[in-house]
Amino acid sequence: MQEQKNEQMHRPVYVGFGSLKGGVGKSSIAEILASYLYYEKKRNLFVVDCDFSQYSFYNMRDRDKQAIQNGNPAFLERMKNHFERFNKHSYYILKSTSEKALQDAENFMAAHPAEKFDYIFFDLPGRADDTALVGLTVDLDYVISPIEPDPQSLVACMTYALVVRDLGVSLTSSKIRQIFMLWNKIDKRVNPAVIEFYDREIARQELGIFESRLPRSSRFKKELSPDNRDVFRSTYLSPDKKLLPGSGIEELAEEIIRKLTL
Ligand SMILES: Nc1ncnc2c1ncn2[C@@H]1O[C@H](COP(=O)(O)OP(=O)(O)O)[C@@H](O)[C@H]1O
Ligand SMILES: [Mg+2]
Repeated sequence: MQEQKNEQMHRPVYVGFGSLKGGVGKSSIAEILASYLYYEKKRNLFVVDCDFSQYSFYNMRDRDKQAIQNGNPAFLERMKNHFERFNKHSYYILKSTSEKALQDAENFMAAHPAEKFDYIFFDLPGRADDTALVGLTVDLDYVISPIEPDPQSLVACMTYALVVRDLGVSLTSSKIRQIFMLWNKIDKRVNPAVIEFYDREIARQELGIFESRLPRSSRFKKELSPDNRDVFRSTYLSPDKKLLPGSGIEELAEEIIRKLTL
């Protein structure tokens, strides 16, 4: 009986990658984490790309497909072996908008009743003029909001986080449990005082923050291609094992598995 109840209660965690600022790393981080969790950690998930002005996540899958289509036989063999070992299809990526995202996700799950999903990732548009963005954000379970250690960019990032927090608290209908800020693009030139200041501010405002920080790194450019054996960023492969140490991705994924629960 208990088992049946748990079975019925199983539903995926709705995780958004959001910010009012473009270029902070929402889509890249969502892609890398989705692939790491799906292909390496065997968590079942699908992705809803809501950024109709770019569709970067969806287009990444297209680039991956093209790399395979234009690839040499050895590369095709490598990819075929990968999916034979994995013994499952690649994760689905739906094209949507902030208005339609939740409905599209529900329809998709209704059309795939045999699949039990652990997560749905929503790649959110980074535009202040997207009127449905904040409404969608507060209807997700969690939002991951990347921040760069650049004072200009931090102002816009904090504004979004505070609006989401305030609406999440005040609207009784909202679902959001926590917004987690995530330091991205950290390098040696960063003034540690900026990070310390915002860490304190984030804590004072009762926003969440991941302990894992992501470095600024050229790995983010290592996409799937026939002459590149070390792929970091692909919708078909988990980041290459050699490139994971020092990238912060394994630590971040562990935090997500631990903290983003229902
Ligand atoms: N940690 C990082 N190190 C280096 N480049 C990064 C990092 N994170 C993101 N980028 C780069 O920054 C650019 C913007 O990232 P993107 O994920 O498209 O941002 P957003 O979705 O927030 O607009 C991309 O060219 C991406 O490769
Ligand atoms: Mg994006």
